[in-house]
Amino acid sequence: MSVWAILVAAGRGERLGLDHPKAFAKLGEDPLLAEPLRRLDNSEWVDAIVLVAPPGWEEPSILLAEELGCGKVSACVPGGETRADSVRAGLAEVPEDAVVVLVHDAARPLVPEAVIERVLAPLVDGWDGVVPGVPVSDTLKRVGADGTVLETVERDSLYAVQTPQAFPADVLRRAVASGADATDCAGLVESSGGRVKVVPGDPLLLKVTTADDLAKIASWL
Ligand code: CTP
Ligand code: MG
Repeated sequence: MSVWAILVAAGRGERLGLDHPKAFAKLGEDPLLAEPLRRLDNSEWVDAIVLVAPPGWEEPSILLAEELGCGKVSACVPGGETRADSVRAGLAEVPEDAVVVLVHDAARPLVPEAVIERVLAPLVDGWDGVVPGVPVSDTLKRVGADGTVLETVERDSLYAVQTPQAFPADVLRRAVASGADATDCAGLVESSGGRVKVVPGDPLLLKVTTADDLAKIASWL
């Protein structure tokens, strides 16, 4: 089975607030993008990688992949306005004979090999998607615009969902072609009627949103 990874790195990183895209924020010595790229390239489960770069940053992205010796990178394309647009751009570079597509956020640099294995394994049972998730531990409340608590949400069955997310290639192609938008790929697959499974995620898969997240992840390295 051939597994293609799409690494989406095309976001602007508005909440991080730098004058360059989040993928090129410094994590230790290297740009943030280096860490997930290296990890996917080193994964024994990943056959090839499509890198979706911030528009205008394709060249530094390719140079970085070359510098790191990431030989599995098969294409580098500019992303789109939304994350779903960026996934669509990446998927267009995945060949027809790919069996499985793994979509990962570059903003989650510390992707453990064990999580890659966990999201791929259940696909043989016919799932339309498999995603890593961690149970929510805080109490959750729905809050109105003026700060009034509207309700306390039942927490027991709630999970915070991460990436990498794995899909049969044909399922993801159909979901993405539907033109829907969602904050993750599983959302696209769910809205086209797909059955998605959650497997245990990992706190290391924290997403870099703010400068605090970046500092926390740097301290874990
Ligand atoms: N992403 C993308 N293309 C977009 C938007 C997001 O490839 N148009 C990617 C980001 O690069 C990131 C992942 O999707 O790896 C998750 O997005 P998020 O954390 O929201 O990153 P940004 O959109 O860059 O950040 P912000 O929302 O603060 O602008
Ligand atoms: Mg965003």
